[in-house]
Amino acid sequence: MHQDIKEILLTEEQIAARVHELGAQITKDYAGKTILMCGILKGAVTFFTDLARCIDGPVYFDFMSCSSYGSSTTSSGVLKIRKDLDNDVKDKDVLIVEDIIDTGVTLSHLVPMLKERGARSVKLATLLSKPARRQVEVPVDYNGFEIPDAFVVGYGLDYDSRYRNLPYIGILKEEVYSK
Ligand code: XMP
Ligand code: MG
Repeated sequence: MHQDIKEILLTEEQIAARVHELGAQITKDYAGKTILMCGILKGAVTFFTDLARCIDGPVYFDFMSCSSYGSSTTSSGVLKIRKDLDNDVKDKDVLIVEDIIDTGVTLSHLVPMLKERGARSVKLATLLSKPARRQVEVPVDYNGFEIPDAFVVGYGLDYDSRYRNLPYIGILKEEVYSK
């Protein structure tokens, strides 16, 4: 285990098993349709690529970068779009793929925005959700795990751009972000 990690919350094996279940469910729900998977950079990349390989059906990849976070561990509540999607979402079945829903502020802006652009459907898949932190209600169609209110890293998630490559999800030691 990495020295900055206090505790492993979800092992590689637990994540893989859950991602397979989500992929199977998505495969069923979208039978006969083409999915435009929209990953939110950068945290969702690991989940996105694993999930995509568990979906049996036609899928397109697209990415956008938007965040309400700087390098701190609390939300500023302001949504910034740094990189938009390449695809026109009009008449597409969009599946937003996010790493974690915390306050819900990010998704509460994104889902209506994609619907306004004319998407036929907009659904949301997130690996993690912290219900205790929710400020805005967002309907989550596919949720990997509900987790307690702790700052987690690994499997794509970062603190100050580090730890994204850890294969598990771990709780960061407080001293790492308090110094
Ligand atoms: P909101 O609050 O809009 O934010 O739902 C979602 C975004 O917040 C970031 N986030 C975290 N990133 N560990 C992280 O590495 C965490 O525990 C955490 N909680 C929130 C994340 O970027 C997500 O997309
Ligand atoms: Mg993110």
